[in-house]
Amino acid sequence: MKILITGGTGYIGSHTAVELIKDGHEVVIVDDLSNSFEDVIDKIKTITNVLVPFHKIDCKNYDLLDKLFKEENFDGIIHFAGFKAVGESTKEPLKYYENNLLSTINLAKLMEKYDVSHFIFSSSATVYGDQPSPLSEKSPLMETTNPYGETKKMCERILNDYAKNRSDKTIVLLRYFNPIGAHKSGLLGEIPQGTPNNLMPYITQVASKKRDKLFIFGNDYDTVDGTGVRDYIHVVDLAKGHLAALNKANKGCSVYNLGTGVGISVLELVETFKKINKIDIPYEIVARRAGDIATVYASSEKAFKELNWETSLSVEDMVRDSWNFEKNIE
Ligand code: WQD
Repeated sequence: MKILITGGTGYIGSHTAVELIKDGHEVVIVDDLSNSFEDVIDKIKTITNVLVPFHKIDCKNYDLLDKLFKEENFDGIIHFAGFKAVGESTKEPLKYYENNLLSTINLAKLMEKYDVSHFIFSSSATVYGDQPSPLSEKSPLMETTNPYGETKKMCERILNDYAKNRSDKTIVLLRYFNPIGAHKSGLLGEIPQGTPNNLMPYITQVASKKRDKLFIFGNDYDTVDGTGVRDYIHVVDLAKGHLAALNKANKGCSVYNLGTGVGISVLELVETFKKINKIDIPYEIVARRAGDIATVYASSEKAFKELNWETSLSVEDMVRDSWNFEKNIE
């Protein structure tokens, strides 16, 4: 199939482009480069030997997208483009609502106008809010405490309501847990701008001496060692989940969790990183971060049964590949 990947020069988008190309799909990438770099296109070529057509387009610009859809005959859209920093979303809610909602509405309108059959949406476990894990797709959606999470819930609702009148469309909402790791080549990975919000890129910047130490946000949670527990999933397994959804999902609107089903604490991840990479990670326990939840991990049985998808890469692979990528960043 010919697939448009929005946000395709980003962390998850670029890894997904590689997996689609390996599976024989034709890929076109649009990205506004607000949180990624165009040289990712060359890195995808190095890995796959395919030069993916790239267009610098802001998905809020309907007319530019329309022109591209007129020129290309897309079979599907995988929509990653969106702002995703929880903290920033509380400071700039209007920027998040406008960007994340308008881009999704534009793409759904173009899906309708140009009779595109597949739409895969990048959602997040954040839509579950604070409730007991394991989280299944039947778990109720809760108040997410931040505009970023609310935009994901609203986009899911928009696509679900659209699908109700279009039974010929295949619309898949993928709820990611905590993606970490990098392509084994060391060419693709997460490059946060400024201070990393997320745990793994902060750890790799401490390992590369860009930062003195890791600050662990609280060790008084009701967990195995008091630190936060999350379901870390290798970004390549996550990318393969998108391929499985594209190839196997049924018509209508369906929802899948993409996680490993295993919860790992901050300290467990730090110790695994230290053991596998033989690098010390100095850290200091500090106060909890506002909005953090003690424990979040998935039940991913539904994706396993219906999409024949399961994760295969271990937390050891995740910490090894994350470090391998960090070493390659100049
Ligand atoms: C993981 C654990 C922190 C940084 C967020 C978004 C979610 C998704 C993934 C977009 C927690 C602890 C972190 C640090 C720390 N993003 N931590 N020191 O918060 O689970 O999820 O990113 O879709 O929507 O909410 O990920 O990596 O920020 O935190 O101690 O410097 O690491 O308290 O327990 P999180 P995270």
